[in-house]
Amino acid sequence: MSEDGLPGGTQRPRRHRIERERATRPFPSGLVGTELSGPTTRERNLTQGAVVSRREYLRMLVVVSGGLLFGTGAVATGIFRKHGSGEGPPKRIAGTVEVGELVNFSYPGGDDPAIAMRLTDGELVAFSSVCTHLSCAVLWRKDRNHLECPCHDGVFDQRTGEVLAGPPPRPLPKIKLEERADGVYATGTDG
Ligand code: FES
Repeated sequence: MSEDGLPGGTQRPRRHRIERERATRPFPSGLVGTELSGPTTRERNLTQGAVVSRREYLRMLVVVSGGLLFGTGAVATGIFRKHGSGEGPPKRIAGTVEVGELVNFSYPGGDDPAIAMRLTDGELVAFSSVCTHLSCAVLWRKDRNHLECPCHDGVFDQRTGEVLAGPPPRPLPKIKLEERADGVYATGTDG
C-alpha cells in the first residue's frame, strides 16, 4: 500500500498530490482578515465616485428644472419676440386695400411684420403678424373670419386681435391706419 492508500504500491501522479495539498492548505491569516473585514480601497473609491456622480446628477437636475421653469415662464409672458410698439413716423403701406384683400408690410421697424386686411363690411384693420405665443407668423383665414397661428392652433379675432383659442398669452398688437388721398398709412401701434 502506498502513502496515497492505493493498493499494490500504485502512486498517484505527482500533479494530483500537489493539487490536493493546495486544496487543503489553510489561507494565510492576513489574507483571510482582509477578505472579511469590509470594503477594499478600490471598493471605497468606487463608492465615493458613485456619491459624487449622484451629486452631479442632482445638480444637473436642478439646472434642467430651472431652465424648464424659465422657458415656461417666458412662453407664458411671451417674451421671446415682441412686436415693436409706439408711434413711428407715418408709413405708406399701400395705394388701396380692397375688400377681402390682405397687405403685408412692416411697422414701426423693418423687423416688425404686420398685415392689413379689408373685412367684408369694409372695415380696414391691421395687426402685428407675430404670434404672441412663440412668434410664428399668423395667417388671415378669411374663410373662417379669424386670424390663425398654425404652430399651436392659436386663434385671434380678425377685428380686435383678441385671443379666441390656443396658447397665445396676449392679443395681437393692433396697428393704427389712416386712409389718405394718396394711400393707406400706418401711423402707430396699440399694445
Ligand atoms: S406660436 Fe402661435 S400659437 Fe404657438
